[in-house]
Amino acid sequence: MADTAHPLQEDTPVLPSSFRKLSPREKRRILESLLELSPQEMQASAPAEEMVDLADVMVESAVGVMPVPLGIATGIRIDGIRTNIPMAVEEPSVVAAATFAGQLISRGGGGFETAGTGQVMTAQIAIDDTGPGAVEAVQKAERDLHRELTGILQPMTARGGGYRGIEATVLPDSGLFVVYLHVDTCDAMGANLINTAAEALRSPLERITGGTVLMAILTNGAPRRRSRASFSIPVEKLARGTYDGPTMAKRIVRANEFAHTDRLRAVTHNKGIMNGITALATATGNDTRAIEAAVHAWAARDGEYRALTDYRVQDGCLEGSLELPLAMGTVGGAVGFHPVSSFALKVLFMDSSVEPSASRLQRVAAALGLAQNFAAISALVSEGIQHGHMRRHARRLAWKAGARHQEIQDLADRIWNAGKFNLEAAQTLLATLRRES
Ligand code: MEV
Repeated sequence: MADTAHPLQEDTPVLPSSFRKLSPREKRRILESLLELSPQEMQASAPAEEMVDLADVMVESAVGVMPVPLGIATGIRIDGIRTNIPMAVEEPSVVAAATFAGQLISRGGGGFETAGTGQVMTAQIAIDDTGPGAVEAVQKAERDLHRELTGILQPMTARGGGYRGIEATVLPDSGLFVVYLHVDTCDAMGANLINTAAEALRSPLERITGGTVLMAILTNGAPRRRSRASFSIPVEKLARGTYDGPTMAKRIVRANEFAHTDRLRAVTHNKGIMNGITALATATGNDTRAIEAAVHAWAARDGEYRALTDYRVQDGCLEGSLELPLAMGTVGGAVGFHPVSSFALKVLFMDSSVEPSASRLQRVAAALGLAQNFAAISALVSEGIQHGHMRRHARRLAWKAGARHQEIQDLADRIWNAGKFNLEAAQTLLATLRRES
């Protein structure tokens, strides 16, 4: 496949070479005139001056922000606690689906039960050209290596986390010698801390093994930081459309089998789970790329990419479960620093009986992912998903046609009733609506 490079057209706008060095405001002025940006495009990308300043300290060459809708999936019982889950996502049906499934499972089945394996993150220090006996040498030096990290890990140790051990192995295919450093990072995702600790071991490990360090970095795989959510609901509560409850339960189990035995279906099935988890991660300022990389690697852990969920019918109930690695924090990085992240965390930890913690956030994320998947496959094996999607699409179309405030729902209803989902028809319907009111 050839990718053809073509010369710039005469009228192609070009950013000045000094662009990177300009202030965000200067950059925005240049873009506004060069690209003829509309007042709406300008305003929406910088709703407040302060947000542009914040963007500027968060990333290089900032020119504004991308406001994504922030919604709340309300009233979902997780470990007996009614939980409101903040979600930042652009896809219309995601928050509604999570709320629907979460409330159905909460009312009909008592809600979700969750568990976690703890907050241990792992770093890898890869070393080349090690001499014989390097594994034993590292094992023998473990106390000294631990001592090297005392200062760096002290704040975590003081909170009950910190050092959790070192292991070493030789990778058979590459011959690389790898040291694994395990650290409990408590309520932080922990990337900065564990990378600092791993780098501090470079010289000591070269001395001990006689090799040369290739790199030292955390693994986003987070295999020791897994969360699990499950639910059980009497099958009769699942009746939907023309399907009775037991039939729905059987169809949900078959849908899950489909995603366990077909890679292409597994991708979409797991994407539905991540609709919820990524939305919560975005709302709380967590690293969505790290979470998604870990989750998909976990889905392929036996060599085949599979569904992350399990469903079965047992004693008249549909039982669903989901287990996956989730490295999320309630402190550190953008979490708590970005004002929308602290807003979202206040929503999540609204119930004063719940102590804010990364463990709770991760377990809520697992429950949300399971709710999201249950909503998706329940719709897919009954009326399909397009019905719900089109109802929400009508609201977007109403906005695009120019409707605002109360007009949006009124016009969406008219679009839906007319069954005409195009802009021209929506504009005509809006003109009629305005004439009549
Ligand atoms: C759409 O965002 C997600 C679904 O495709 C998930 C699924 O197919 O399971 C509905």
